Amino acid sequence: MRQTLDVQIGKNCNYQIDITDSTFAKLNQEIDELSADKNRLIVISKKVHKLYIQYFNFKESELLILPDGESQKNLKNYLKIIEKSAELGLTRSDIIFAVGGGVVGDITGFAASTYMRGIKFVQIPTTLLAAVDSSVGGKTAIDLPYGKNILGAFYQPEKVIININFFETLDKKQFMSGIGEVLKYAFIENSCGYRIPQFLFEFLTLGYEKILACEPLTLIRMIEYCLNLKIAVVSQDEKEGGLRKVLNFGHTLAHALETITKYKKYTHGEAVVYGMFFIFEWAYKQGYISYSYYRLSLDLFEKYGFKPLSQKYSSVELTEIMKRDKKASSRKITFIVPNEKKEVCEVMLPPKKVREM
Ligand code: GLY
Repeated sequence: MRQTLDVQIGKNCNYQIDITDSTFAKLNQEIDELSADKNRLIVISKKVHKLYIQYFNFKESELLILPDGESQKNLKNYLKIIEKSAELGLTRSDIIFAVGGGVVGDITGFAASTYMRGIKFVQIPTTLLAAVDSSVGGKTAIDLPYGKNILGAFYQPEKVIININFFETLDKKQFMSGIGEVLKYAFIENSCGYRIPQFLFEFLTLGYEKILACEPLTLIRMIEYCLNLKIAVVSQDEKEGGLRKVLNFGHTLAHALETITKYKKYTHGEAVVYGMFFIFEWAYKQGYISYSYYRLSLDLFEKYGFKPLSQKYSSVELTEIMKRDKKASSRKITFIVPNEKKEVCEVMLPPKKVREM
């Protein structure tokens, strides 16, 4: 099965996202077709290289293998991609492929955006998290000692190919990290401005057994529904001037939790779920949402095995981190807050109030 989604950003940028369970032989053929008559560089995660390289006809010389983990999204590896592109003699009419999770996609996309002022690149996400979020929408970046995603660009890929067969070797924690981002879409659906109701909340509620069992057609549908919403958002607001902020639902606390634990304790999706638990409870207590909607959110999280955060962290430290976040502005901290069924709104709060929360 193959679902193809069209992304149109502005007048001149459009590309397709394929979501498929076709064979790796077919993926190999597609990569060859996209790079026919071109020089190519393939940036690939070390883990994906080890598990899957036998299915592809890549030459050793066109490969750059990057170790896995957020710490690899750094300046050194960025320069390696640039240097390798130069060594291979890539020009702006050539192409770079990013094969891996969000780290490989983000760093390769950023390198592509700056190499010769921009070279084509294709995202081939191999994790559920990257498939439903980072590979789509053009956010590319590297981390610096000053913070995450400090150096980056909005730079759209030439194409995104999501082959769900890669998910077979994800461990449970990584798969559930992707599910964390998927759940986010269920609660923001009506704020995304997509013309056709996706009923994602209902789909996730009724389909959870098939989703957790990785039933292929259900996974393809689930990714399609999430990406329809994400495409609707980024095509209206590519550079996060307004609407795109809805995609940050659950993320204000999530980034603070990831930072305070040095990206070692929680996966990104898990941290997003804790962020959503937190803001749902706050929204209920402040009267933004009814008890029944609050309860529905808890039920959905529980269905997927997520429980509220039990570990305690210093509210002073968390608030300090949130103040430094890119989403903060003019000394206020921005939260995306649920305000009734599947809708969210932006609420800016002074740090003192956040500490009390
Ligand atoms: N990950 C949120 C965004 O793409 O805007």
